[in-house]
Amino acid sequence: MFIRKATPEYLALIRKLEQATETAAHWAEREYDALFAADAPRRIALVAAEDVGAQILGFVIARCAAEEWEIENLVVAREQQRRGLGSALVRELVQEARQFGATSVLLEVRQSNRAARKLYEKLGFSESGRRKSYYRDPPEDALLLRISISIP
Ligand SMILES: CC(C)(COP(=O)(O)OP(=O)(O)OC[C@H]1O[C@@H](n2cnc3c(N)ncnc32)[C@H](O)[C@@H]1OP(=O)(O)O)[C@@H](O)C(=O)NCCC(=O)NCCS
Repeated sequence: MFIRKATPEYLALIRKLEQATETAAHWAEREYDALFAADAPRRIALVAAEDVGAQILGFVIARCAAEEWEIENLVVAREQQRRGLGSALVRELVQEARQFGATSVLLEVRQSNRAARKLYEKLGFSESGRRKSYYRDPPEDALLLRISISIP
């Protein structure tokens, strides 16, 4: 298994996995296409796969601002969950952020998403805010989670 930066060839696989995952953040096709556009805000997508050209097992996408990176989506295929893959993807992302000089990584998560909340808590993220009724269908608060990072 490897984790690597996604290239445009991975977009269809990322989108397919996202669409099959109810609690993932859902993006339109054009938003995925914009990931690699020259004038797009800087983002990073990491994918986990068994082999080159194979189905992906999971992915994480983050927006990379100078000091603060924001995880926008994290998905592990249902049959691959609880094997440490989600943690490995987030750890790798945090490592990338650190190398690029970011000082924190943050994200929003549905209050009811206990799996994701537990994962982030185990990795050292803590709650730094709440956005009331941020999500729709169904309406729900978003918890803002954050981790401070520094160069080791
Ligand atoms: C959240 C998600 C990415 C976790 O991926 P994963 O590969 O299963 O996570 P890990 O195996 O690294 O789990 C790390 C820890 O998180 C917690 N955790 C993960 N899934 C859990 C679940 N279903 N229930 C309770 N705790 C869970 C556990 O504490 C776990 O450690 P443990 O297995 O040693 O007990 C995965 O469940 C997923 O893709 N969910 C759907 C998409 C989603 O909700 N994304 C989050 C958007 S913010």
